[in-house]
Amino acid sequence: METVSTIAAVREQVRRWRSEGRRIAFVPTMGNLHRGHVSLIEAARRHGDRFVASIFVNPMQFGPNEDFAHYPRTPAEDGRMLAEAGCNLMFTPDVAEIYPHGSERATRVEVPGLSRMLCGEFRPGHFEGVTTVVAKLFHIVEPDIAVFGEKDFQQLTVIRRMVADLCMPVQIVAAPTVRDSDGLAMSSRNQYLTPAERQIAPRIYATLLAAVNRLRAGDSDFAGIERSGIQALESAGFRPDYFSVRQAQDLGPPRSDTSHLVVLTAVRLGKARLIDNLQVMR
Ligand code: PAF
Repeated sequence: METVSTIAAVREQVRRWRSEGRRIAFVPTMGNLHRGHVSLIEAARRHGDRFVASIFVNPMQFGPNEDFAHYPRTPAEDGRMLAEAGCNLMFTPDVAEIYPHGSERATRVEVPGLSRMLCGEFRPGHFEGVTTVVAKLFHIVEPDIAVFGEKDFQQLTVIRRMVADLCMPVQIVAAPTVRDSDGLAMSSRNQYLTPAERQIAPRIYATLLAAVNRLRAGDSDFAGIERSGIQALESAGFRPDYFSVRQAQDLGPPRSDTSHLVVLTAVRLGKARLIDNLQVMR
């Protein structure tokens, strides 16, 4: 695996591969890789034949009181994991390479509506930061395919919309959420949990499952399901931001005949803010 940190070096390598007829698959990450990220690389391997991963902790997607400064950074271990997973090119730009005029003054890409609901309501500007950096990374890498995890379901939906609206020639592939054996979705932010909080954290998955079971059984009292979810999470010790049943297609409000639903939640537990979701077909 080659490691580069400049835009020019990525372009040179990717264009060489493309001239050889290679299909380029890309996995953007913020590093601190875990099994969830490895599954993204594995999904990329099923769709392309040259693999690029970026590691960039994007300041634009963090709010002023969020964890940008403390976000875990483990570049040596990330490099080892990516090489083992079969990645060909690791792109590790610094902030000045991506935002030469500073992230505050950079041109922005925003998907209105979708970016302001759910997590966007509690993290103003977050998805604007995500779409801006992902759009830049797509222009730099020019991949045929890019892989995103379903764990960040709203992010995946926002990116799909951006790609469609801006006619970007990249296919978005969704990779299923990877969970610990007790159901907790893998996340770099799980490291913020104390041992006692880690014991409680799998209740997020259990609460989502309870909602999914009601939906599968034909219950369309969405407001009632949301209230029960919030109560269950609060009783377990979380501070929920939201627990919401939505249409999976566009995160709009569901109707009783909507067949593809998604239940999404974001909770705070100690220093951590954790998100998770489950989809339902009925
Ligand atoms: O999901 C993430 O790790 C980030 O939001 C992403 C897509 C790499 C953009 O910074």
